[in-house]
Amino acid sequence: MKDFKLDVAFIDRTEEMALLRNYLENRPNSILFLYGPKSSGKTTLMYHLFAQMEQERGYDINFLNLREILLTSYNDFIDAFFKSAEHDNGIRTGTRRQYSLFGLFKLDAFTERMLRKKQEDPFLVMKREFQRLQKKDIQPVVIIDEFHKLDGLYMPDRQKRLIVELMNFFVAMTKESHLCHVIIASSDAFFIEQVYVDSKLRKTSKFMKLDYLEKEDVFAWLSDIRKYNKVREYALGREEIELIWDTVGGSAWEIYSILEDLFRHSLDEILARIKREKVAMIADWVDYEDMEERRALLSRFVEENPIDRRKLTGMRNLLGQAVRDNILYYDPVEGEYGIQGRSLEWGIRGYFDEV
Ligand SMILES: Nc1ncnc2c1ncn2[C@@H]1O[C@H](COP(=O)(O)OP(=O)(O)OP(=O)(O)O)[C@@H](O)[C@H]1O
Ligand SMILES: [Mg+2]
Repeated sequence: MKDFKLDVAFIDRTEEMALLRNYLENRPNSILFLYGPKSSGKTTLMYHLFAQMEQERGYDINFLNLREILLTSYNDFIDAFFKSAEHDNGIRTGTRRQYSLFGLFKLDAFTERMLRKKQEDPFLVMKREFQRLQKKDIQPVVIIDEFHKLDGLYMPDRQKRLIVELMNFFVAMTKESHLCHVIIASSDAFFIEQVYVDSKLRKTSKFMKLDYLEKEDVFAWLSDIRKYNKVREYALGREEIELIWDTVGGSAWEIYSILEDLFRHSLDEILARIKREKVAMIADWVDYEDMEERRALLSRFVEENPIDRRKLTGMRNLLGQAVRDNILYYDPVEGEYGIQGRSLEWGIRGYFDEV
């Protein structure tokens, strides 16, 4: 394995891991939705859970990250969820399986052909698989990342939305038959909102928010980058860590980017550049025909962050745009809008200082 100057590490998520494990250690009774701001670490957390659980007996963990997959048709869905050994060119997921799969469910070639010819119901195939595992005293777990990517796909008869059918199926598998655990993650706040406002789904689901890292975890991490990231060329003092926290908060991705740049630049230069970039990003976003509204909206966040959505009535379209453009973040469960990360707070404040 190559030795990197800066390696990646998994920084403490004890609380969140414990919540996920608690969900898995009880009989399936609800779908668990994992949501949170952009790049907060949802995918990383699930990979970590997956890796940890895979070592344990008694579970059959099926992890599918839809971000990696091109999904334009029903057949793409079949490919992603079901693959037979013949097509196996994906990640090996342990020796327990007869066929190890990149897709979710292992199938014999016959069933796969039937699915492809649409002569087999994919939901029944999944249910049979869950039942088979349960008979063997193995608890099936389905983890799907970027679930909202299934939106826009239809069942073969073109009448029904696949994502709706799948969600109903998962409700039946959890709340009704208690057959299988289902964890769904999405970085699309509007998808989570759709689920949350649908009373039937809301009542049969749990919602878990994953926010950026806590201050103490960032401090524990950055105080020992030698241990966590195998960095040998420099170390960070308390004051420097404070400056990093002050600029990007607990955004692991931005922290990595700073650590990488520190091999070539001073911390002051790096942090000043980040702030300049964010100001430019805000100036760019504001520069539209509806500039005045955009400015008025952002100026409210200088005073208050996050803001309860009931205080922001009459701006739904613009708010939606801001969320899609990753300027604002929307939490449908808390019912509030906030700035997408601490560095962007600097961008917004800096923008208003300049104009
Ligand atoms: N607990 C952690 N420890 C160390 N690094 C982390 C941790 N969580 C996330 N990261 C880093 O932060 C970056 C973003 O993480 P990740 O892609 O998991 O976020 P996400 O919430 O899934 O993002 P998206 O909203 O785009 O789906 C990654 O580069 C990852 O390595
Ligand atoms: Mg992700």
